[in-house]
Amino acid sequence: MAETELAGSVGLLTGASGGIGTALGRRLIAAGVRTAFAYGTHAEHAERLVAEAAKAGVEAVALPGDMADPTVPRSLVERTTEALGPVDVLIPNAGYAPPRHYTEVDLDTWDRSIAINLRAPFLLAQRVLPGMVERGFGRVLFVSSVAAFTGGVIGPHYAAAKAGLHGLLHHLASRVAADGVTVNAIAPAFIEDTRMLPSTADPSKLPVARFGRPDEVADLAMAVLRNGFITNQVLAVDGGAYPR
Ligand SMILES: NC(=O)c1ccc[n+]([C@@H]2O[C@H](COP(=O)([O-])OP(=O)(O)OC[C@H]3O[C@@H](n4cnc5c(N)ncnc54)[C@H](OP(=O)(O)O)[C@@H]3O)[C@@H](O)[C@H]2O)c1
Repeated sequence: MAETELAGSVGLLTGASGGIGTALGRRLIAAGVRTAFAYGTHAEHAERLVAEAAKAGVEAVALPGDMADPTVPRSLVERTTEALGPVDVLIPNAGYAPPRHYTEVDLDTWDRSIAINLRAPFLLAQRVLPGMVERGFGRVLFVSSVAAFTGGVIGPHYAAAKAGLHGLLHHLASRVAADGVTVNAIAPAFIEDTRMLPSTADPSKLPVARFGRPDEVADLAMAVLRNGFITNQVLAVDGGAYPR
């Protein structure tokens, strides 16, 4: 089966300054995807990816933007298009996961979690999908979590937002499938070398008895991006956490 050739396409990766984002960014560079690396506060990590891309002869930019701001997703797509061209590969990977007991989730935490984890991915996808459909090719890959299936350990604000991505992708995928555009999600659990891994996380709770690595998440992401026959799916990369 022929793999989709991603070289030369334009990518937009949010959360590029995080642990999973860095691994994903490196894979996109290796695949020759000309990528906008979006970040919130850690500019230095996104700039490092731009420098690595330049070394590899791949065009890239680092773009700041707070995903809690509803105007930012649209402006990110516009800035990416200006710098690199229309977006072919969208990976809304930025995530917000402050641990809270359900009794302690205040309105601000709830709203911020929905805004960053669910609204921003929707606004990004809403903005890029029509162009992908017009050009007959596109990839949208959301980054969910095993918490969407199990409830997880972070809190209801996080589990609900991530589960919302699943309904979102099922709605979108069928509308664009016949136009060469796939919409999927990957669902990791307990990934080391990320700022999001809770300090209380216990690897012995996973069947594989260890944390996952950002590279293992990036492996799955690239396989999904290269495959035009996988769409409308949530694929777990979770050490066997679900189902069990
Ligand atoms: N680590 C895990 O165990 C795990 C498990 C399941 C799912 N996930 C998902 O994997 C994705 C990547 O997270 P990670 O594990 O790589 O964690 P991470 O190292 O903490 O990275 C989080 C990323 O999200 C960005 N971000 C957070 N709030 C933002 C905001 N308001 N505006 C813009 N960007 C913002 C951060 O940007 P700055 O740092 O620049 O602010 C950073 O790049 C997330 O969607 C997360 O929910 C992670």
